[in-house]
Amino acid sequence: MERLFSEELTERIRACGIFAVLVIEDAGDAVPTARALLAGGVAAMELTLRTPAAMESLARIREAVPEMLACVGTILNPKQVGEVAAAGADLGVAPGFNPRVVDAARKAGLPFAPGVTTASELEGAIEKGCRVLKFFPAEPAGGIPYLKSMNGPYGHLGLQYIPLGGLNEDNVRSWFEQPFVIAVGGSWIARRELVAARNWEEISRRAERAATIFRQVRGGQGGERRERTANGGEPKGRHRG
Ligand code: 3PG
Repeated sequence: MERLFSEELTERIRACGIFAVLVIEDAGDAVPTARALLAGGVAAMELTLRTPAAMESLARIREAVPEMLACVGTILNPKQVGEVAAAGADLGVAPGFNPRVVDAARKAGLPFAPGVTTASELEGAIEKGCRVLKFFPAEPAGGIPYLKSMNGPYGHLGLQYIPLGGLNEDNVRSWFEQPFVIAVGGSWIARRELVAARNWEEISRRAERAATIFRQVRGGQGGERRERTANGGEPKGRHRG
């Protein structure tokens, strides 16, 4: 079975390290949010299909901030897969494992990581050729000890996980330390309220703190602060790991 993720995409996800989960109410906020994240060193987003503004937000970010790795989340049916693929997303994820969605993603050529919480869901996803999986809801489900235990029987398959759900600045370090974690994600960096309040500075600060932890653990891969601040001006200094 052909792989859903190219080597190049896999490496890009690993280098980015952090997906900022976005719930955008007003498409006018999409580009400033993406720029604020990039300014802080977070170069990947999971833009959720939870608001009417989501698809327009994706289009605007693709156009104006092409360096942002564009993952679309909350893809719940095959129709959405088609729309997301046509809009040029780099990859898609969902909270759960729906075989019809995985089939549609393969047909549309959209790299897709379904969400799994149990060994049974994991085996269903493995059978569909998935090797990159969203682990959701990561912390409430049992965190790292749970994922270590669940992944144990499948270690020889080299599965890679993107944990989401309950991650934050205080616990993200230990997730980065896990070899089977390709990247992490969460909504704490660009909280819905921060976006709605247009608090780009705070989003950049949170992104920068997360990117710093990432670089400390993973030794400077990706997460580089960009040559642009949240306001579009020149950065005060470079922060490289
Ligand atoms: C998701 O879409 O993956 C979750 O909403 C992320 O969970 P969090 O809000 O706890 O970060």
